[in-house]
Amino acid sequence: MNVLVIGAGGREHTLCWKLRQSEDCGTLFAAPGNAGTAKCATNLPIGVTDFEGIKKAVLEHHIELVVVGPEEPLVRGIHDYFLADKALQHVGVIGPEKAAATLEGSKAFAKEFMMRHHIPTAAYAEFTAATVADGEAYLERTTPPYVLKADGLAAGKGVVILENLEEAKSELRRMLLEQKFGQASSKVVIEEFLSGIELSCFVLTDGSSYVTLPMAKDYKRIGEGDTGLNTGGMGAISPVPFVTEEFRNKIETQIVKPTIEGLKKDGLPYKGFVFIGLIKVGETPKVIEYNVRLGDPETEVVLPRLKTDLLSLFKAVHQGCLQDIELEVDSKVAATVMAVSGGYPEAYEKGKVIRGLGATEMVFHAGTTSKGDEVLTHGGRVLAVSSFGKDKDEAVQNSYETLKGISFEGMYYRKDIGFDL
Ligand code: AMP
Ligand code: GLY
Repeated sequence: MNVLVIGAGGREHTLCWKLRQSEDCGTLFAAPGNAGTAKCATNLPIGVTDFEGIKKAVLEHHIELVVVGPEEPLVRGIHDYFLADKALQHVGVIGPEKAAATLEGSKAFAKEFMMRHHIPTAAYAEFTAATVADGEAYLERTTPPYVLKADGLAAGKGVVILENLEEAKSELRRMLLEQKFGQASSKVVIEEFLSGIELSCFVLTDGSSYVTLPMAKDYKRIGEGDTGLNTGGMGAISPVPFVTEEFRNKIETQIVKPTIEGLKKDGLPYKGFVFIGLIKVGETPKVIEYNVRLGDPETEVVLPRLKTDLLSLFKAVHQGCLQDIELEVDSKVAATVMAVSGGYPEAYEKGKVIRGLGATEMVFHAGTTSKGDEVLTHGGRVLAVSSFGKDKDEAVQNSYETLKGISFEGMYYRKDIGFDL
């Protein structure tokens, strides 16, 4: 079976690496891919939202399964595009249809979904330009910190947390009246601040049954000790030591099950990954957000631990028979450490030569490109170096050992991944 993975990051390189291990995987393509996917797949120079270009490639290369990495094509309706086209209807698409992808595309939609299905989450209210005065009054009635969320996709920057009431009110006005995040902040969700430790839970569903993948924790801040600016993710660990069996059962019964049942009840067609961003408040798991894809860099630690054949899982999702598959997970701990470009997450330079990539197994490319025989940096996040260990310390150390052999000008990585576990 020929397979296409859409995207160009570490998540997509990991998907390609894992799919390559499947006996049934024929020719594997990545669009647009990076220098890492080029080692295990054929890169196609097509943008992730170029649906026409993707269609042409699917027909030309007899692709039967498309795995969508990032959210944007899903929120724009790539799955619906395939279903609406007679020539593409037979192709399996891993990723929800547009209506269900709104779980990530609109925070207000996600909150309403959680309320409707009694899924534990922060209390909230939503406001528009017409109700900005009500929004300010709402802020006055609540206590700091104030959590303001742009409703739509804002490249991971749409959440603002503030301590000061006046600052929160002017931020609300900037979002609603001055469109700080463009169309994405034409609606704003104001949320109760939840205090606790965060974790990521990925569920794969065929719309009816589901499997819950191993939990992971990512490290979002640029600086050690979780300080400084937010990034796309600087490292991750799986499993998460504070997730006891009891806590996992709570996640399963209070959150995962009602989420999948809610999708069904609401008639939201879902064949793909649900990424549930969770926070542990005391002993209670609560949902911070839904994403309709895998997380990055969590994928770089979750997929290596899967013993079950990934392509078989995807085929079962497409055929709607996921209930027949038992998930097998490696008990070893996996860690990943992200090497980023100097300056990231602010301005940084691209095009630096990466040395020392030689014979490394789980070095997933997040932002790279090839030029002749050289591999160059091509993004803020450049390489996710994953390793196994008997415990998290050993796993993280193994990644640091690998990183010692790799270099590019300005390379930076956090030396404390897993410090809080
Ligand atoms: P989101 O884009 O919804 O994932 O939010 C980005 C980050 O903001 C989350 O990973 C949390 O660290 C933080 N955050 C979001 N909502 C809340 C909340 N209600 N309470 C505390 N922190 C939050
Ligand atoms: N690592 C968080 C995300 O992928 O959104």
